[in-house]
Amino acid sequence: QAAKAAVNYTPTKADYQKVYNRIAEIMDDAGEYDDGSYGPVLLRLAWHASGTYDKATNTGGSNYATMRFDPEALHAANAGLAVARGLMDQVKREFPWISYGDLWTLGGVAAVQEMGGPKIPWRPGRIDGYARDATPDGRLPDAAQGAGHVKEIFARMGFTDQEAVALCGAHALGRCHRDRSGYDGPWTFSPTTFTNDYYTLLFDESWVWKKWGGPKQLEDKKTRSLMMLPTDYVLTQDTHFKKHAKAYAADSALFFRDFSAAFARLLELGVPFAAAEPWEMRSLDEQK
Ligand code: HEM
Repeated sequence: QAAKAAVNYTPTKADYQKVYNRIAEIMDDAGEYDDGSYGPVLLRLAWHASGTYDKATNTGGSNYATMRFDPEALHAANAGLAVARGLMDQVKREFPWISYGDLWTLGGVAAVQEMGGPKIPWRPGRIDGYARDATPDGRLPDAAQGAGHVKEIFARMGFTDQEAVALCGAHALGRCHRDRSGYDGPWTFSPTTFTNDYYTLLFDESWVWKKWGGPKQLEDKKTRSLMMLPTDYVLTQDTHFKKHAKAYAADSALFFRDFSAAFARLLELGVPFAAAEPWEMRSLDEQK
């Protein structure tokens, strides 16, 4: 491999496409794991690596990939992400020239695109940092809190309410795990397909507090098989959030467009890029 052998070789878009492809293959090779895909947990890794960004101090974010180090790896918000980091380590062994921050964010891009979501413009440029670059605990949102907390956390990263609402639509994918966050269950009936179902379900179903020994979460009254976190439910309660959540429930194309823009921006927070324009990586399907 040219990229591996030559010291001064700068990897090209084609090299990163190879990494993307390997991630996409591993994602699908999940056997009995969860709903048969590692996509959701890889997306959560990309988000937690990026969502530590603090605009005021320009610290945190996906540059440096500090979740590799304790204590950040052990922060409660990151419980369960060792699964995703382990999968990414397999890819890193095959393509050792890629930085961890580029690898993890490219994983998020592959997850969204391969599960049927919008194209996410992406470019490399993150470098590996040190444990001393790690961010303090408490920068990621706490699911037990209300609208004020959600606004505050996303505003700290530099996001508007509209962007915060669009980003939360990622909960169409994946599920909560008792042994990770303490919460339990999926948000939608198709947790491995990127849709705007998160918003339609928020408004179309009746949500009631689940009676159980676990943390406060809601369940749909009809099937009792879906869940919402307190922070998901506030999108229907806060008037500013509600306006955007309603718009995304009514218009899937609008959600796809706004999610793509906000997620691409999330992945680049705090990353000092060279001038290069972002790329559109091709899905496995497009390369058939
Ligand atoms: C899962 C909280 C925003 C993507 C989860 C879980 C919690 C949570 C508690 C369950 C973890 C587990 O038990 O495995 C929150 C809160 C948010 C937020 C409080 C904001 C208020 C986001 C955003 C994204 C995202 C912005 C991506 C853009 C995901 C995904 C999963 C997940 C894909 C499923 C992971 C899996 O299936 O393993 N989130 N989240 N979340 N979150 Fe979020």
